[in-house]
Amino acid sequence: MNAPLNMDHHWLPFTNNRLFHEEPQMFERAEGRRYWTPEGQEILDGASGLFCCAAGHGRTEIAEAVYEQLKTLDYTPHFQRAAPISFKFAEKLAKILPEGLDRVFFGGSGSEAVDTAMKLCLAYHRAAGEGQRTRFVSRNWAYHGVNLGGTSLAGMVNNRRDFSGVTCDVVHMRHTWTEEQRYTRGQPETGADIADDLEELCRTYGGETIAAVFVEPIAGSVGTIVPPKGYLQKLRATCDKYGILLVFDEVITGFGRTGSAFASQEFGVTPDVMTMAKALTNGCVPMSAVATTSAIQDVVYKAANGDRPEFFHGYTYSAHPVACAAGIATLDIYERDGLFARAKAMSDTFLDAVFSLRNLPNVSDLRGYGMMSGIQLTPGAAPGAKGSWAQRELFKAGLHLKATGDALIFAPALTVTEEEIAAMTDILRSVLGRSV
Ligand SMILES: Cc1ncc(COP(=O)(O)O)c(C=O)c1O
Repeated sequence: MNAPLNMDHHWLPFTNNRLFHEEPQMFERAEGRRYWTPEGQEILDGASGLFCCAAGHGRTEIAEAVYEQLKTLDYTPHFQRAAPISFKFAEKLAKILPEGLDRVFFGGSGSEAVDTAMKLCLAYHRAAGEGQRTRFVSRNWAYHGVNLGGTSLAGMVNNRRDFSGVTCDVVHMRHTWTEEQRYTRGQPETGADIADDLEELCRTYGGETIAAVFVEPIAGSVGTIVPPKGYLQKLRATCDKYGILLVFDEVITGFGRTGSAFASQEFGVTPDVMTMAKALTNGCVPMSAVATTSAIQDVVYKAANGDRPEFFHGYTYSAHPVACAAGIATLDIYERDGLFARAKAMSDTFLDAVFSLRNLPNVSDLRGYGMMSGIQLTPGAAPGAKGSWAQRELFKAGLHLKATGDALIFAPALTVTEEEIAAMTDILRSVLGRSV
């Protein structure tokens, strides 16, 4: 008989550990779009893990590539050393990146990518003789990871509240959700003028003091807030007017989630810098990347003199060869199985299912684009209580979804079948239809 699991020592992230210990919800095995608990209960995965497993779980191609790499070259330092595999991976990635963004810097997580992007923007401006650009612009409701840069950019109060005093100089624009947009499927027709906030901040602080504007093209963690038509274009124009870099944080939206490789291509707006993580390796090995243009790289390179590295930044696990192997195998799957096109083709079926939840008693808004959606719940006893209740009850009923506050994020793997979407929606209907 197995010894009972001692849960005293591992402190879980973003978790009410006290509640979790009373009623653990765990996974022991995964395959396709399914998890299984240690007790053997099947749980449909409606969140691609945490939006990482775009090609579904248990892809043997990735497992084999990782095993082979571990046997061949388990680790390479990347400070003044490298291995061919990271150059091969970067070249492969550059083929699907938005036009012009073909220089890639690797990290280990989305949070690292965000902080890397912030430092790259600062380094670029300093190299370009504009060291006074030290301020960043972000947005209310933004999530850009949890390192100190990302925490400074954060627009979600619980992610900031306890950590003041160490944050960077960041000013916030409004989020783009308005009452008029309630139950909008796809991009809202109204709200592009909210981008005028950037112009206003440039007037208030001086556009020449701002290094970069960070946005998630679709705000993911807050529950899928889709940008109004024309909004991202307006941000791009204002950035150009004031010489500010535009950064898209595509940690969730990257790799087919919108139906294109990246939201940038889907919405027709190219940033100067882009972050990605999660589905980069199908969630199999931690890895992230920041992409930028050769023009930006050139400025940073040219400013470095003598022997010094151009960019004083990097991680022990930057471009880890095992992560690169997983990444190459993942991109091969996306390409071979045409998963980005599949996401586009499946989106209508998926959004039909999501919007069929409209009249349930616990639902107050629905939003969605491509293969990602947000289900806003009616308020519970306290902010976040309804979301936490729903997440736990859905699990018991056989569905894994992510809740943030009182929003659920429903974003299954791009390989999901129509039958699985229907089964996931049935579970949502049964739980969100309850009177609580
Ligand atoms: C837009 C965005 N940026 C950054 C991050 C942070 O990524 P990680 O949790 O890998 O540090 C996330 C994670 O959800 C995210 O959604």
